[in-house]
Amino acid sequence: MSKPRVFVTRRIRDIGLHILQEHCEVNLWPGDLPPDRRALLEGVRKVDGLLCLLTDQINAEVMDAAGPGLRVISNHAVGVDNIDLVEACKRAIPVGNTPDILTDATADMAFGLLMAAARRIVEGHNSILAGRWKTWEPNFLLGAEIYGSTLGIIGFGRIGQAVARRARGFNMRTLYYDPTLSSSAPVPETLAVDLDTLLAESDFVSIHTPLTSQTRGLFNRELFARMKSDAILINTARGPIVDSEALHDALTRGIIAAAALDVTDPEPIPMDSPLLRLDNLIITPHIASATRVTRDRMAQMAAENLLAGVQGKRLPYCVNPEVYER
Ligand code: DGY
Repeated sequence: MSKPRVFVTRRIRDIGLHILQEHCEVNLWPGDLPPDRRALLEGVRKVDGLLCLLTDQINAEVMDAAGPGLRVISNHAVGVDNIDLVEACKRAIPVGNTPDILTDATADMAFGLLMAAARRIVEGHNSILAGRWKTWEPNFLLGAEIYGSTLGIIGFGRIGQAVARRARGFNMRTLYYDPTLSSSAPVPETLAVDLDTLLAESDFVSIHTPLTSQTRGLFNRELFARMKSDAILINTARGPIVDSEALHDALTRGIIAAAALDVTDPEPIPMDSPLLRLDNLIITPHIASATRVTRDRMAQMAAENLLAGVQGKRLPYCVNPEVYER
């Protein structure tokens, strides 16, 4: 019997590839960069399964190019904003993602960025490289106190809650805003508040909501104006949740004190972006889940989702389970 045909849009960790290579005929995109549109449309032709990354835009055009044999789309990410779920549902194609396993790595990164921005760690490093460390100075690179401060978390799902657990170790008062949550306070000593209260009272605001039509551009000029002028913004979720021009304005006009982003809009951030010239902004290249352990787990989970789909089984982690209810 012939093996199912799958297209994998980038080299993932071996642990995932080996699972696929054992059971499938794998067409692995060889490039270090994502396949361009033509290559993506060509790669998916007549496949049974597609394993894609958050850098691949998977819409009706791609599903059409694959043809009616496409039985599963497995995203190597927890976020699935790169996939047109409405189209996938229309065609009864299950879509898989990689939840839970990257929660701690991402929460660690969010907290690391919070600390780096509060304590001006990157500026300190750069000041040494620039030869500015002349002596110990009482007024040099003063930052914000973290211990005992107030943290506001936007989006209180798995990752937001994991950040709240880290904040307890720093004796932080933790507020959260999540209109999608039905039960309150899933983490002890945290408080559900409305968005206005969170913005007005938080010293740090950390974003952990998915990118949706409601959250796209949520952090705009009007919202920055409601934050404390010494507040620090952390974004490890998705770049387009923050309006880049409004952020630039907020950081240069002292509307907020600083920001640290692991995600930008667009990605990668253009080298001529004015954001790259700001001392009060730290940017990392979307690496919150980038630990060896976590990326191994993501590759394995994405491969297992793909395999289940091409074998006609229910995906272990499916974001549109309604496709099974028909
Ligand atoms: C995700 O999984 O959605 C992250 O952004 C990448 O790990």
